Amino acid sequence: MPNDIPEPQAVYTPITRSAIFIVATLASGDESAAIVRAWCADVAALVRAVGKRVPSGNLSCVVGFASDAWDTLFGTPRPAELHPFREFGPAGRRAIATPGDILLHIRADQMDLCFELATQLVGRLGGAVQVVDEVHGFRYFDMRSMVGFVDGTENPTGREAADFTMVGAEDPEFAAGSYVLVQKYLHDMQGWNALSVETQERIIGRTKLSDIELDEAVKPTSSHSSLTTLTDENGDEVKILRDNMPFGRPGSGEFGTFFIGYARSPAPIEQMLENMFVGRPPGNYDRLLDFSRAATGGLFFVPSATLLEALAERDPQASNDVVAEPSALPASAEPHYDGSLSIGSLKGTSQYE
Ligand code: HEM
Repeated sequence: MPNDIPEPQAVYTPITRSAIFIVATLASGDESAAIVRAWCADVAALVRAVGKRVPSGNLSCVVGFASDAWDTLFGTPRPAELHPFREFGPAGRRAIATPGDILLHIRADQMDLCFELATQLVGRLGGAVQVVDEVHGFRYFDMRSMVGFVDGTENPTGREAADFTMVGAEDPEFAAGSYVLVQKYLHDMQGWNALSVETQERIIGRTKLSDIELDEAVKPTSSHSSLTTLTDENGDEVKILRDNMPFGRPGSGEFGTFFIGYARSPAPIEQMLENMFVGRPPGNYDRLLDFSRAATGGLFFVPSATLLEALAERDPQASNDVVAEPSALPASAEPHYDGSLSIGSLKGTSQYE
């Protein structure tokens, strides 16, 4: 029965030219929680209404909830691996956690579409939330990040993207959901641009102009590409799906990258953060961080679109008393949600071993 298969939110979408990232905290009180829950049922209709006006604009929105907010808003059952953002790294080079209960990731080919949808979504939430961070990102030349290198090349595509980003049989109640980790980075562009192109290439692990991976013989183990490449116990690569966006205000000296990574478990993204900030082995850290500071950090769960709508009806008081009975996935969904990622056995996973 295909109707039993939950529909994911728009996690995997075509590349767009613009994005707005909004992180908000939940106001206290039952009334605010009730407003946010009711809003969950309106999101899809608002995306349809705004998107319809420019059919070629590829407008989409992904909504995620942080760990404490999930408990307040929806009680139990809760996503198996949802927890507060874990910090990594020493003082001065640290992936920090910052406040944030709700994430909106709005994407389109035109900023006016993103802007209108953000206005509608935030407007409807009113005083039930407080926006604590809002970043308007743009696509920079040929998919280049703020630091001048093409970004997103090694992203999984097609079926692989779905398999790496969607929760499956490992947590059937939350099938077709995803975990998403965000960080707002600010760059020291003067320092970065003072480096030779060859030095920059060794830091990223790819060539700058042609975006080709450096040969293993010359690619340092501290390169960004090396430290973010993970394999499971079978030697198979474990990927995440990224859609980073440059942003900034040249007049104020602000040059940034909004990092956003989706996966079917927080574990691989956290492992990458540990490798980058602490180092693999410790001390062999990502030199990109000598020129980039993480100013924010948040981890969120993205329910399937089907569940997002249903969450509007949740009564957290009642559900907190209920022990959830996981429903079996339909057989037709199983090859897709095979739950075979072996996240616990990522190579070098000091925190999971
Ligand atoms: C300062 C912010 C960041 C910048 C400017 C940046 C930029 C880049 C660039 C230019 C590449 C090479 C092209 C590509 O395959 O996409 C890359 C690769 C990658 N980055 Fe980042 N990145 C940043 C932060 C992060 C973070 C925080 C993570 C994970 C937690 C991450 C994970 C990855 C992964 C998985 C790859 C692909 C590696 C491979 O398979 O070769 N990046 N990044």
